[in-house]
Amino acid sequence: MNILKDKFGRTFPYIRMSITDVCNFKCGYCLPNGYQVDKNDTRKFLHLEEIRRLSKCFSLLGVNKIRITGGEPTVRKDFFDIIKVLKFDSGIDNIAITTNGYHLDKKAKLLSSSGLTGINISIDSLNQEIFKNITGHDRLPEILRGIKILQDIDFENIKINAVLLNGINSSYKDFNEWSKFIEKNKVDFRYIELMRTGDNLEYFNKYHVSSKIFKEYLIHNKWIYQTFGKDAGPSLNYINPKFKGRFGIIAPYSKDFCKSCNRLRITSRADLRLCLFGNTGINLRHLLQRDDQLNELKDLILSQMQFKKESHYLELGDTGSTKNLSKTGG
Ligand code: 5AD
Ligand code: SF4
Repeated sequence: MNILKDKFGRTFPYIRMSITDVCNFKCGYCLPNGYQVDKNDTRKFLHLEEIRRLSKCFSLLGVNKIRITGGEPTVRKDFFDIIKVLKFDSGIDNIAITTNGYHLDKKAKLLSSSGLTGINISIDSLNQEIFKNITGHDRLPEILRGIKILQDIDFENIKINAVLLNGINSSYKDFNEWSKFIEKNKVDFRYIELMRTGDNLEYFNKYHVSSKIFKEYLIHNKWIYQTFGKDAGPSLNYINPKFKGRFGIIAPYSKDFCKSCNRLRITSRADLRLCLFGNTGINLRHLLQRDDQLNELKDLILSQMQFKKESHYLELGDTGSTKNLSKTGG
């Protein structure tokens, strides 16, 4: 059957596609010196027609959700054309983006009317000064304004991600601030445990902390663990009837993290990545040049599924070929 399935019985209804490596932020764990052009890789980013063909192909392979990531995807001039193509030409119903929230106040209305079904926004701290120190940009107020606008026009699916950083946003005071926020705001807030990449070893050693501390906070405050649904993905979610929003934890180093893996990745230069941290993956670009290559492309992607490994082996210190997450969009 034409469905993406690996040797371990996992299926892949979800694709994360990076459309650019460029990012205008300088997050300490990702691009501390800002985006630098990779002189060793002069291949162009996926263009609109390639994105159209690829998404159509994935739709025929049973994919029902695509997330557009970067770098920062909204820096692309044809960003809204890409969303339009996905919305009207791919056959995929669920189209989400991950953004750093840059100019979110100006873009919120357009994002909502473009037909997006979900927006993930990265906010590592609700403290303006800390936010500025982590990202290199004093842009927290415009992002929060953007969220308010999205809510006012009833945009449904807003998620906020924060990377958990020891001593920076990891105290009960920080957790309480988020708690106050989601009490009144219907958003999913998730802490992601800091991941080690090829570039960030020193940072990782300084700031990595287990997400257990947040889990303990949730249990202490009577949050209720919500069991996995179908296609749920690797976030552990917690609910509390008194709160409009939900809490979540993404803990890539935890034992069973990879068991619920339901996604494949496409890099901005059309490499198929079977795992965020894997160094396996082939380039698909030669089969994205004409519409009549569709069947060949399908066969190639299907044949790659046998190479997906059971786990990322991160806990063993293996970072694969991932220098930083700006190339694969986290
Ligand atoms: N560890 C954990 N999360 C990361 N992100 C980027 N780099 C890392 C890392 N090393 C997050 C971003 C954003 C998402 C796309 O990935 O903060 O929320
Ligand atoms: Fe940019 Fe995201 Fe990396 Fe921050 S984490 S520098 S916003 S790509």
